[in-house]
Amino acid sequence: MTDYKTEFSRSLDTPEEFWTRQAANIAWYRPPMSILSKDANGSEEWFADGELNSSYLALDYHIEQGRGDQTALIYDSPATDTKASFTYIELRDEVARLAGVLRDLDVDIGDRVIVYMPMIPQAVFAMLACARIGAIHSVVFGGFAAKELATRIDDAEPKVILAASCGLEFGKVIGYKPLIDEALVIADYNVDHCVVFQRPQCTASMSNERDKDWQSLLEAATPVDPVPLPAAHPLYILYTSGTTGKPKGVVRDNGGHAVALTYSMQSIYNIGAGEIFWAASDVGWVVGHSYIVYGPLFAGCTTVLFEGKPVRTPDAGTFWRVMAEHKVNVFFTAPTAFRAIRKEDPEAELLGQYDLSSLRSLFVAGERTDPSTYDWLVDILGVPVIDHWWQTETGWPIAGDPLGIESFPPKAGSVCKPIPGYDVQILSESGERLGANEEGDVVIKLPLPPGCLPTVWGDHQRYLDSYMTQYPGYYNSGDEGYFDDDGYLFVMGRTDDVINVAGHRLSTGQMEEVVASHPAVAECAVVAIEDREKGHIPVGLVIVKDGVNVEVDALRADLVAMIRKDVGAFANFKQIVMVPRLPKTRSGKILRQVIRKIVDKKHYEIPATIDDPAILDEIAATFRDNGIGFIGEK
Ligand code: COA
Ligand code: AMP
Repeated sequence: MTDYKTEFSRSLDTPEEFWTRQAANIAWYRPPMSILSKDANGSEEWFADGELNSSYLALDYHIEQGRGDQTALIYDSPATDTKASFTYIELRDEVARLAGVLRDLDVDIGDRVIVYMPMIPQAVFAMLACARIGAIHSVVFGGFAAKELATRIDDAEPKVILAASCGLEFGKVIGYKPLIDEALVIADYNVDHCVVFQRPQCTASMSNERDKDWQSLLEAATPVDPVPLPAAHPLYILYTSGTTGKPKGVVRDNGGHAVALTYSMQSIYNIGAGEIFWAASDVGWVVGHSYIVYGPLFAGCTTVLFEGKPVRTPDAGTFWRVMAEHKVNVFFTAPTAFRAIRKEDPEAELLGQYDLSSLRSLFVAGERTDPSTYDWLVDILGVPVIDHWWQTETGWPIAGDPLGIESFPPKAGSVCKPIPGYDVQILSESGERLGANEEGDVVIKLPLPPGCLPTVWGDHQRYLDSYMTQYPGYYNSGDEGYFDDDGYLFVMGRTDDVINVAGHRLSTGQMEEVVASHPAVAECAVVAIEDREKGHIPVGLVIVKDGVNVEVDALRADLVAMIRKDVGAFANFKQIVMVPRLPKTRSGKILRQVIRKIVDKKHYEIPATIDDPAILDEIAATFRDNGIGFIGEK
């Protein structure tokens, strides 16, 4: 095994050689001869002439290797009090038959299928069934409201929606079908079929001709084999929040993705075939795609699909129970989940009831881990706790402690070292490379390694504008941070209007569009401020229209309800302050970052272009008067 320094240098100095070696670790139908080239858009393309199938790699390949009777998927649902498991053969059979359903519905290579499902095995079957026949899945997180679902329907133009009748939130039954019906009214695009898996907790009404019963279709279908696909063929589109209200459809290819995830399982998570991997996330997010479904299955692991919450399903010991019961070797979740557990069980007394001897390491990502939560985890678990950094766009970690290569002593607040393949640098606003301890924009020098997004679905210009234009030759991550003297990376937060609420990525622009549509609102800004539990929460600053006589509490209630209805309850939009004016530059740009920094008690420079600096004090006073923000002082 090479050390990190050698592995990292090889990955940057001779990327084609490096990734040729990694590509040899997966079973291609046609191994690639072309390793790195340019696609029609001029983006880097990995393994252009290779052919493979991601569903084959995740299932059939392991059966051929003699792992057919090994458990591939464990479903553990405290939400419904059920557990089930599927061997690789059983999972392959479920997937192959569902692929047959899609075929019967005329879904072909390149057609899009939206998956709107909670954390049930059928969601995994759905993703892998699409992959099997070369359909492009787009999973929409079940917490998104009808309007958000409609936006994604219009952008992806799916032939079919695969759905479940409901999701469960702390015992609350959330009917999905009414949301889909509403979304299909809002959307301009018409889908051909909506296939619904009826759960016993709620039977969806199937009133429209396009509605089809999942189970009946399945009974009539015949299993389908995986089809060979070009490496660059899209495996999925995953919508993620950008600066504007319209989400970006991150496109993932088949070939680069399979090679990168396979590499990550070994080099970062240090886990292999026959071992148990659990990512407590949701299939609607990138963590769910990469590390509930594809990564562990590519690696021949057993993956755990958990339908529950870290707390109150039934208690703050749930995570420990699942780890002990299924003998989890490597666990991954968002720090916010541990903040919730710690709040309910600060001494981790419930942990004492379980045997966690199988657990080797714990990975956290999705937001910054505060040092206090990090230290608590290290104290109670006694295994390496690894904070690692990545994004929907990259699909796999950019920085972390690569346990399968070489392990580094942790530093609280740091995401450790760049992962081989990623040439991470810090640039100043003018594009100069910054030295150790100098904070700036975190960028990745091109080429991006395999697995990262080659484009934004249907809008390549947006891809260029969002990531590639500001610093030519570099991918701009949208995060700011610095390297210390020892080459450890510290990621400090976003430089744009993307926010992370309880591990859920959202756009403040998206919320501003909704708030601004209220007839009493003249102008508004939404900023994310620090929150002890959720990491960040959104706060709305609202200017009421002159001459409009509106009761402030009623307006607040309206706006909260509108965000719940149009974006989703998980946005946690509850705090609103009324202000007479907003701080702006002379050209009229609202200074959201400055507002945020004031309220978070962070250092900020008063921009030279500010219209009237006195507004900043006014805003700070309004937040204080309303008891919002300034958590460092409380
Ligand atoms: N479907 C429908 N509603 C959802 C939802 C979903 N999938 N997810 C969240 N919501 C709703 C909740 O029911 C809640 O509604 P309410 O305001 O009516 O009570 C609201 O959105 C806020 O949810 P949340 O911020 O998640 O708070 P919570 O108290 O319900 O749960 C945690 C707190 C910590 C348990 C939860 O935020 C969590 O598990 N976070 C981890 C997220 C994660 O895994 N991210 C992936 C990155 S690795
Ligand atoms: P998502 O695309 O939902 O995975 O969100 C990606 C964003 O979450 C990143 O751009 C960061 O802002 C933030 N993020 C993810 N992981 C970390 C981490 N370990 N530390 C700090 N921020 C993180």
